[in-house]
Amino acid sequence: MDDVCFVVFSTSLLFLLITVSFAVDSISHSQSIRDNGSTLVSSDGSFELGFFSPGYLVLLGQNKSVVWWTSLSKYAQSTMIQLLDSGNFVVRDVTDGKSLWQSFDYPSHTLLPEMKMGWDFRTGLKRGLSAWKNSEDPCPGEFTCGIEMETHAYPEVYFRKGGLKHYRSGPWNGQEFSGASALRPNPIYSFDFVYNDNEVYYMYKLRSKSVISIMVLNGTTSTRDRLTWIEAEQTWRVYASVPRDLCDRYNLCGANANCIISDSPVCRCLQGFMPKSPEKWNSTDWSLGCMRKKPLSCQESDKDRFVKFTNLKLPDATHSWVDRSMNIKECRAKCLNNCSCMAYTSLDIRAGGSGCAILFGDLLDIRKLPDAGQDLYIRMSASEIDDDGKVKTGIIVAVVIGAVFSGMLLVGYYVYRSRTKLKETEKREENLKKKGVQKEDLELPIFNMSTIARATDNFSDDMKLGEGGFGPVYRGTLADGQEIAVKRLSSSSGQGFNEFMNEIKLIAKLQHRNLVKILGCCVQEEKMLMYEYMPNRSLDFFIFDQTREELLLDWPKRFHIICGIARGLLYLHQDSRLRIIHRDLKASNVLLDDEMNPKISDFGLARILTGGDQTGGNTKRVVGTYGYMAPEYAADGLFSVKSDVFSFGILVLEIISGRRNKGFYDPDNSHNLIGNAWRLWNEGRPLELIDSWLESSCNLSEVEVLRCIEVGLLCVQHHPEDRPSMASVVIMLGSDIALAQPKQPGFFMEKKHEASPDIGNE
Ligand SMILES: *[C@@H]1O[C@H](CO)[C@@H](O)[C@H](O)[C@H]1NC(C)=O
Ligand SMILES: *[C@@H]1O[C@H](CO)[C@@H](O)[C@H](O)[C@H]1NC(C)=O
Ligand SMILES: *[C@@H]1O[C@H](CO)[C@@H](O)[C@H](O)[C@H]1NC(C)=O
Ligand SMILES: *[C@@H]1O[C@H](CO)[C@@H](O)[C@H](O)[C@H]1NC(C)=O
Ligand SMILES: *[C@@H]1O[C@H](CO)[C@@H](O)[C@H](O)[C@H]1NC(C)=O
Repeated sequence: MDDVCFVVFSTSLLFLLITVSFAVDSISHSQSIRDNGSTLVSSDGSFELGFFSPGYLVLLGQNKSVVWWTSLSKYAQSTMIQLLDSGNFVVRDVTDGKSLWQSFDYPSHTLLPEMKMGWDFRTGLKRGLSAWKNSEDPCPGEFTCGIEMETHAYPEVYFRKGGLKHYRSGPWNGQEFSGASALRPNPIYSFDFVYNDNEVYYMYKLRSKSVISIMVLNGTTSTRDRLTWIEAEQTWRVYASVPRDLCDRYNLCGANANCIISDSPVCRCLQGFMPKSPEKWNSTDWSLGCMRKKPLSCQESDKDRFVKFTNLKLPDATHSWVDRSMNIKECRAKCLNNCSCMAYTSLDIRAGGSGCAILFGDLLDIRKLPDAGQDLYIRMSASEIDDDGKVKTGIIVAVVIGAVFSGMLLVGYYVYRSRTKLKETEKREENLKKKGVQKEDLELPIFNMSTIARATDNFSDDMKLGEGGFGPVYRGTLADGQEIAVKRLSSSSGQGFNEFMNEIKLIAKLQHRNLVKILGCCVQEEKMLMYEYMPNRSLDFFIFDQTREELLLDWPKRFHIICGIARGLLYLHQDSRLRIIHRDLKASNVLLDDEMNPKISDFGLARILTGGDQTGGNTKRVVGTYGYMAPEYAADGLFSVKSDVFSFGILVLEIISGRRNKGFYDPDNSHNLIGNAWRLWNEGRPLELIDSWLESSCNLSEVEVLRCIEVGLLCVQHHPEDRPSMASVVIMLGSDIALAQPKQPGFFMEKKHEASPDIGNE
């Protein structure tokens, strides 16, 4: 055991050659100290080392047995041990004086000044604190404290209890730990955080020898206390202690929530998020945390934005990535390009900020620190944000304008981009009424009457595309060549000036590639709305008419259209806290652009429900289209996102079969689409539903078709609560996860005369 240095302690006697009886700071390898009160004292007298008897602890080794030893990496012929003025207890090689072992590498529950707490990447040594097992037993207990980080990530201090995270400091931001506001410049100690390629550590130094301060991990209170020595009372007093309060408790509020200690209750979902379980949340069980109100649209990265949150303790940085040279702009771009990136911030907040840190996954353990913390940019769906970069807080009210457009309904839907609270909106509306309309009040480009007249050949009959309930629709071409569709509100439409203004004021830029786009309006003597012109008309032209085979769409195009409609509808349903329910989804309301991308149109019957968690409404006036209406809507006027899902299901089955659903039916009637689909499904031959033309064409993926049939049947289930949400539908269409068995479709047992909607608008 030549390469092992034995440091042997005994509670009685060891091979003692020279007895230490006076104050020395070191002994050689042949010397020992015993627990009769003899000690080592560092040269300036700051530290003394010896044995003590904590409580009832018994240190075994009465008879010269080894009770503790450590191995060294280096062979040493002759060693000595020395107690330094720092309190570091070092084993040295006598010949070259080099340190072979030091107690500072193995802290127990105390961090002394100038002791590093951290991680040496070169040797792999981690220096962390462990509280005593209990007040009598100095063995490492379950309460620990140390710097943790994933490789190349963002280091921060964690306290753990029994392995579980108990408290974290928040990452170092160049100035302090983002969540440890107690760590401020002070007269007692200075502190430093070093993070480079070799090591990462935290260390503090006393400013003056006369004020003594140490840091102790206390297993009894589960706190890390900074103690200062009170000379007059000969005692340690707690100077600061973490965790400080409820909000310091690790992840108290769950994911994506903010802990605000001055609030009651303290937990709050971050703006743009809502409780995963409102019941539990209300009963102050916050553990499930919060989820996004609107999903991110990662693939279309331009649809995501970032909202700036200030004075935050940064979230748990376990899953993070950092770069020291990037600036905040590059950081934003980096985050935007990675779907798993949820937030970004500056690595160093000094001098206006530098470096980049991006965080992945749920944002855990955030708190608000009124005079500390830092800025964090959190990813949001663009539809959650207005142009000011603030999360929408107001309430959106719907506007619904419809017009018939070559036999189909073309629609404008205008939603007001709410800036603040509903009250302010109402005030603005009032002012607007008084003042008349100012351009800046509208969120939509305004066209001159003369411009539109020129574009439409002065509203010539040749340019007329159709006539709707509210007035005629014209085709037009703007001076720059853009083709438009113009809906002109006729004075006889029954829509008065106030109603029209109300509608216009509520316009917001709902924009989605699968919704028809509104280009502008005219609010002069005539009221008009402009839409993008869709050259390929509507879906019904391309799936139902077997006599025009050249027009029929092959399966990949149909599947593309099904997925596009699903995404458009998902956007409507989840665009805001208030859900937009289309209420009239059908083949003729799906317009196709020149690349055959589907665009949902006709919001003439759409409703935007106010009141965030409301999922449906009730109407005495049942409007919609025969064959697409959900049973609860047709019979009782109950509409919800799930009634749209029903219509979507019908549409899917129509797209697959090339046949129209005729509405109410009975199970024996195989001429009815939905009845036929259900029968074939139950008889195990669902593929017979496929359009015969489609079946004979190539490119047919039976797996995809089967999946779409099953999704269609799930969507048309009788009970709204059984139908999947559009979010689930989009997932089901895009993956190969196992699907539930569809239950009986709606209307299955109905007789034709039982429910009859009073108005169909077809
Ligand atoms: C401790 O014991 C040693 C030898 O047994 C003796 O020389 C020394 O004086 C004792 N020290 C004290 C403080 O009693
Ligand atoms: C030393 O004590 C241990 C128990 O502490 C015992 O097992 C061992 O036999 C003893 N050795 C001698 C040499 O007395
Ligand atoms: C831990 O805290 C308790 C209660 O304040 C105190 O009695 C005890 O001395 C502390 N222990 C340490 C190691 O500071
Ligand atoms: C939760 O509390 C809020 C506000 O008190 C209330 O509006 C909401 O209905 C409650 N939700 C549940 C599910 O209890
Ligand atoms: C996003 O970041 C994660 C974690 O660093 C990484 O594994 C993944 O490859 C990144 N994705 C892209 C698209 O860059």
